[in-house]
Amino acid sequence: PNSSTSSSAIKIVVPSEINDMAVLIGPVPLFNWFPLNLIISMILISMFLISLGVYALIFPLERKLQLIQVGVNEVSKGNLDIQVQVIGQDEIARLSATFNAMTSHIKRLIESQRELTRAVSHELRTPVARIRFAVDMLADTDDEDSRFMQRDYIDEDIESLNGLIDEILTYAKLEEGSPKLDLEPVNLRELLQQIERETNALGKPIKIVTNLPNAKVTAIADRRYLHRVIQNLAGNALRYAETTIIISAGVKKGNAFVSVEDDGHGIPEADREKVFIPFSRLDDSRTRASGGYGLGLSIVSRIAFWFNGSMKVDESRDLGGARFVM
Ligand SMILES: Nc1ncnc2c1ncn2[C@@H]1O[C@H](COP(=O)(O)OP(=O)(O)O)[C@@H](O)[C@H]1O
Ligand SMILES: [Mg+2]
Repeated sequence: PNSSTSSSAIKIVVPSEINDMAVLIGPVPLFNWFPLNLIISMILISMFLISLGVYALIFPLERKLQLIQVGVNEVSKGNLDIQVQVIGQDEIARLSATFNAMTSHIKRLIESQRELTRAVSHELRTPVARIRFAVDMLADTDDEDSRFMQRDYIDEDIESLNGLIDEILTYAKLEEGSPKLDLEPVNLRELLQQIERETNALGKPIKIVTNLPNAKVTAIADRRYLHRVIQNLAGNALRYAETTIIISAGVKKGNAFVSVEDDGHGIPEADREKVFIPFSRLDDSRTRASGGYGLGLSIVSRIAFWFNGSMKVDESRDLGGARFVM
């Protein structure tokens, strides 16, 4: 048999038994299911429909992305007040919301940095101005006693500058990024006894009461930083207490805590967040006598942060003054 097909017909030629004759079947036209033209136009139409659909999907996305693009441009120009509009609830909307959160976070950081720089320069200026004044006085007087007195003032101010720089560096180290923590089990009873000894050695006319935990109670912490926290809080309490402070430590619901309370005037509820802000002081304690720079509690709360702990202040139930708990 021998057959041939052209594009649309079939023809079959078969040799027959009758001499020199052949059987020819066909040509039978084939039904053409997919004429070329139809295929091409169908492809074109479906491509058109697909692009229409894709466009309908893309267009709103495109518009939302454009809004974000405008926001990013503004931020790169330095304008951090920009907030992009959050439309709908899709991925792009989430991106816009994240973008907004990010810019306001950056803005807050920059503002606090600015505030810090301003406060630092103010704090540095005060003792420097006093030193300059004392030096002038020194040059002006021949009186031996007065000269010694001025020299002592200068000494005191240099000492205070030194202390301030130490505090600022400590604060900056804690603020910047994760400080190196030597986490180890710290025996809270021993630590409290040590603090009690050191605080008593300051010789202040204040009674120091300790609530010592069981001898086996330990906290996983960096010993030096934990010591610093309690020492700082105790230092403040000593300054504000009338007669008594209580230092406690222990474990509650699996979490270790330390607390320091006093019988001073306490901290009004409205100011309880403020005291942890660097350089913030409630009373005007910018005198030599009280000595603080308002960095102590900021350092303490940063340490609490790195310990994955929390720092809060309320009113002492037993003494009526402030109670700080980490
Ligand atoms: N025990 C306390 N009782 C009352 N006020 C306190 C107490 N501890 C801290 N404060 C307030 O919080 C402020 C910030 O404390 P802190 O950061 O330690 O700074 P500083 O001790 O250098 O003043 C203090 O200036 C004071 O106004
Ligand atoms: Mg202090």
